[in-house]
Amino acid sequence: MSGDKEQAALPKLKYVQYSHEKEPLYLTAIRKLIAEELSEPYSIYVYRYFLGQWGELCFLALDEEDRLLGVVICKLEPHTSCPLRGYIAMLVVLKEFRGNGIATQLVKMAIDAMIAKDAYEICLETEVVNVAATKLYERLGFLKTKQLHRYYLNGNSANRLLLPLKAKEDTNSSDETTSQDSPA
Ligand SMILES: CC(C)(COP(=O)(O)OP(=O)(O)OC[C@H]1O[C@@H](n2cnc3c(N)ncnc32)[C@H](O)[C@@H]1OP(=O)(O)O)[C@@H](O)C(=O)NCCC(=O)NCCS
Repeated sequence: MSGDKEQAALPKLKYVQYSHEKEPLYLTAIRKLIAEELSEPYSIYVYRYFLGQWGELCFLALDEEDRLLGVVICKLEPHTSCPLRGYIAMLVVLKEFRGNGIATQLVKMAIDAMIAKDAYEICLETEVVNVAATKLYERLGFLKTKQLHRYYLNGNSANRLLLPLKAKEDTNSSDETTSQDSPA
């Protein structure tokens, strides 16, 4: 994460689930927020890949004027390690509004939505140097399972974090990410 701007007063927040009809209202704002705050560059196809198939696993934090303050984007697919594995692909909160629990709330909503769809586990990667994100996910029960050397285009390494949700009958446990997992 990058250096923080001065904190803004917290407006009244709304948390909404994304859906295809919301694309004209929010897709540009989602892309802008993510492009400004995440180190990886993502093309429009990456957004369409995630939002087109798993829009209901994307949640937005909005202020009273429907300005986008934060977003989480996820997917849920069969995986070699379990029948259904959730993946948190992107999580960003506007700098001025960080430290108010917005990301925690977005991630909790995404986790609940994936649990409702029968996820066995949820994984993600975060930069090893990203203390805020690591702390947030560990507080929600995610465990570090692997370090991925120079995983990001900026040369930084990643930690893979995993939230186990259900016991697996088949112990064919694997911590591998499929080629489709990472948006990068
Ligand atoms: C990571 C990010 C989404 C967190 O958003 P947020 O709304 O501030 O998160 P929350 O307020 O819910 O929780 C943040 C936690 O990190 C802590 N934190 C924030 N900055 C920190 C820092 N520099 N060092 C240590 N902890 C920090 C907060 O204290 C809080 O933990 P606590 O509730 O136990 O005190 C936000 O910082 C961000 O958008 N960063 C840039 C993009 C990014 O890194 N995304 C994650 C990619 S995996």
